[in-house]
Amino acid sequence: MIQLIRGFKDILPGEAELWQEIERVSRDLFESFGFKEIRIPVMEKTELFARSIGEHTDIVEKEMYTFPDRKGDLITLRPEATASIVRSYVQHKMYAADPVRKFYTIGPMFRRERPQKGRYRQFYQINAEVIGVDAPYIDAQLIFLLATLLERLKVTDVAAHINSLGCPECRPAFREALTALLDGKKERLCEDCARRSGTNPLRVLDCKVPACREAMADAPSLLEYLCEGCKAHFDSVQRSLNRLGVPFVIDKKLVRGLDYYTRTTFEIQTGALGAQSAVAGGGRYDGLIKMLDGPDTPAIGFAIGLDRLAEIVGLRQADLEKKPRLFIAALGDACAEKAFDWICRLGLAGVHAEMDMADRSLKSQMKQADRCGADLVLILGESELASGSAVLRNMRTKEQAAVVIDDQTAARLLAHIQ
Ligand code: HAM
Repeated sequence: MIQLIRGFKDILPGEAELWQEIERVSRDLFESFGFKEIRIPVMEKTELFARSIGEHTDIVEKEMYTFPDRKGDLITLRPEATASIVRSYVQHKMYAADPVRKFYTIGPMFRRERPQKGRYRQFYQINAEVIGVDAPYIDAQLIFLLATLLERLKVTDVAAHINSLGCPECRPAFREALTALLDGKKERLCEDCARRSGTNPLRVLDCKVPACREAMADAPSLLEYLCEGCKAHFDSVQRSLNRLGVPFVIDKKLVRGLDYYTRTTFEIQTGALGAQSAVAGGGRYDGLIKMLDGPDTPAIGFAIGLDRLAEIVGLRQADLEKKPRLFIAALGDACAEKAFDWICRLGLAGVHAEMDMADRSLKSQMKQADRCGADLVLILGESELASGSAVLRNMRTKEQAAVVIDDQTAARLLAHIQ
């Protein structure tokens, strides 16, 4: 038997209804806040991700699915969506008509990480990005949107963590201080961090390995190094969140795993997923559009891990399951032909009706009706056909109604159902 690839998974019917509901609630919310859907390809030139996410990040160094296509060009299955959205914004000169754009997109991403609960090699993200707005209001609005979405999906046990990563003006001094501190601690760090301390020292701050945590306990905070502009921006985000009533914690060790971030960064963390605590993450990337050859334009966004969200939502799969409204137990060819005609007409009218197509006994058809969960059952045998009337039974209330059998029966059934 051929099985699926490690770290990949099927979303089976049942679970898929839960995903649809999450997507529906997300789309509704985004559209109420002026976001427009954008669909981008699942593959891009490798260079796009290497340049934007950063050569010295885990994603680019060891997690991307990169391969030469048949002509030898290096292409990569997208590990995230932000880089592609920015590429699209720049490529189509969307800034020319209106530099301010709000996008959302939902789809699969690919990272070759070690699979475990909440961590897959193909996973799905719900992304929201706002390009062209510098004001800290938008930072607060995005975090507010995330909090609202989680509330609507009945997710509990989550906390919004926020931090500021400064800007090219103030971050270098912090980086220097951190590098100096790390120089004296290299032998206490894990293998990854010892290597990263030279190339990407900020990442050492949020390493989960206990030895690294201990070594970094007295690390300076970026917040102490923020320039006036970044400090005022971060203070303003916090004031807006307080006014909106969104609870948050300032997490000075939150640095995120992608290099493009500036100023506000945030994560929604949960205790419900074991080691994989981040349900969503995002932040500002004010330098990325220029870096990808567009105009100097600020931007901010987030991505929710849909797989992780589906595991912690408070919605019950059983409540979302869709069942047929009607089952027709038809006995013999003549009855089956009529039943077939009616279920097709009902389907066209938007009502799901089922029948048995294998000429089974009444007993087994009734079992089938029960299994599929239809509320209404119509029994149609030779005698019903002859008398021109059949009984429609409501399996929950036990109420019965007579339905005339003629060329209007599908409409009559529809009237009973609606
Ligand atoms: P990220 O933190 O790398 O950010 O991913 C966002 C979310 O995707 C994570 O919080 C997590 O829920 C989910 N996720 C990531 N990797 C996996 C995995 N292997 N398995 C399951 N879920 C996963 C970004 O991707 C940025 N592009 C977010 C962003 C948008 N920043 C600005 N705009």
